[in-house]
Amino acid sequence: MKVIIRKNSAESSLWTARYIAARIKEKAARTDEPFVIGLCTGSTPIETYAELIRMVKAGELSFKNVISFNMDEYVGLPVDHPESYHSFMHKYLFDQIDEPAENIHILDGNAPDPVKECADYEAAIVKAGGFDLFLGGIGEDGHIAFNEPFSSLQSRTRVVTLTQDTREVNSRFFDNDPSKVPAQAMSVGVATVLGAKEVVIMAYGSKKARAIAAAIEGPLSHYCTVSALQNHPAGIIVCDEAAAGELKVNSYRYFKAVEAAENA
Ligand code: PGA
Repeated sequence: MKVIIRKNSAESSLWTARYIAARIKEKAARTDEPFVIGLCTGSTPIETYAELIRMVKAGELSFKNVISFNMDEYVGLPVDHPESYHSFMHKYLFDQIDEPAENIHILDGNAPDPVKECADYEAAIVKAGGFDLFLGGIGEDGHIAFNEPFSSLQSRTRVVTLTQDTREVNSRFFDNDPSKVPAQAMSVGVATVLGAKEVVIMAYGSKKARAIAAAIEGPLSHYCTVSALQNHPAGIIVCDEAAAGELKVNSYRYFKAVEAAENA
């Protein structure tokens, strides 16, 4: 696992956006096959998406040959609800880039047959060729996508029940009322994320510090599902100083030294 530590979320997001752009361009230079990316919602990716939008508007990057699959969606929330992940993604990314509408995939949290919806999603990912890169954030409890503590590390896309902690954290988008946060979501599984060729996880702020330390220094455990990244051949965590704040001094120095050596 690589850990990139930057001063703040702005610098971390710039690093992440440049990394994604470089991967998209690198694939486009060698093949006509689309770049398949997993995307996330939340506060964390907003600055990264803003930089990707800037690049597209400046003609430096194109999403014309990118296929995306979002990692999760609330169950039962109308698609046009301002807090649906459909709304979020259109507002913060899709409406401002050139990704063709037919390349955009987001789970339908109102599907009449949720089991089929989740199975079809996994099949569509395979049909697209599998993920080149999965971009994710993490929860304060170490969840990756909505894979809450004790989710199987072998899990695939399915309906999940959110923890009370997550509903409380997300209630800031629902009038600060946890009971207004949907109790369930559809989410890709841990194994779905780990199936990507590369996984890039972003974490900003001291609220994420304990989860970051658990993911990097703790055991591989379903208690902190993002720790599964330890088993991925190409996992990167991008965090700011605050989110790195609970790492051991020696771990922090090690990751800084690796990055300095690789850039030397
Ligand atoms: P956040 O959410 O980016 O809003 O902190 C991340 C998550 O819960 O996975």
